[in-house]
Amino acid sequence: MAVPASVEERRAALEALRREAESCRRCDLWRDATQLVFGEGPVDAPAMLVGEQPGDVEDRTGRPFVGPAGRVLDRALAEVGLERERLYITNAVKHFKFSSRGRRRIHQKPDVGEIEACRVWLLREIEIVDPPVVAALGATALRALTGRVTAVTRLRGRFLSWEGRELFVTVHPSSILRIEDEAAQERAYAAFRADLVKLAARLRNEAPGVTPPAQGRLFG
Ligand code: URA
Repeated sequence: MAVPASVEERRAALEALRREAESCRRCDLWRDATQLVFGEGPVDAPAMLVGEQPGDVEDRTGRPFVGPAGRVLDRALAEVGLERERLYITNAVKHFKFSSRGRRRIHQKPDVGEIEACRVWLLREIEIVDPPVVAALGATALRALTGRVTAVTRLRGRFLSWEGRELFVTVHPSSILRIEDEAAQERAYAAFRADLVKLAARLRNEAPGVTPPAQGRLFG
């Protein structure tokens, strides 16, 4: 698909893509989810943040990162001076995967088949928004973007050369919420914020992007 040139055309292309994705049956997750949760943000955003999949609140509201993990993300973005409204925020998998325990819906990690099935939508979002920087929040996003299983801890805080763009890697905010020890949780949050400081500096052109020896050696 040729990428439309103007912002209006790209906005229309994104809307058409969202409508197409709403009837996606490439995997079974649509069956139990309330709705598809597509990405949101400006079509000419300088960076796209990619999470894992919508959670319970996102599934009900139809918007990415508006539940507990979203609050962690919003707090960190605000603290490093990044405006959420200026970023395009999406997920690797666009339907909520969960198991039911009574009335509670418990998050389940998407499997490789589901990540692969949904990858087509993510890659088309990237093609249309065409952001110079794509940020993977966590292992599922990294897997969806690169097609490889790689430890986030090895790559976090770095800008890597990927498909003609810069790929920035950090943890998923919900990994911070899962830490029970308060001091450890604070340290994890500080490390996440420190990663986002680098992203913010990069987007202000105050920091270099891909630097040797990372250049071209994503998994080296
Ligand atoms: N976790 C994600 O990865 N994405 C969301 O939208 C919400 C929680």
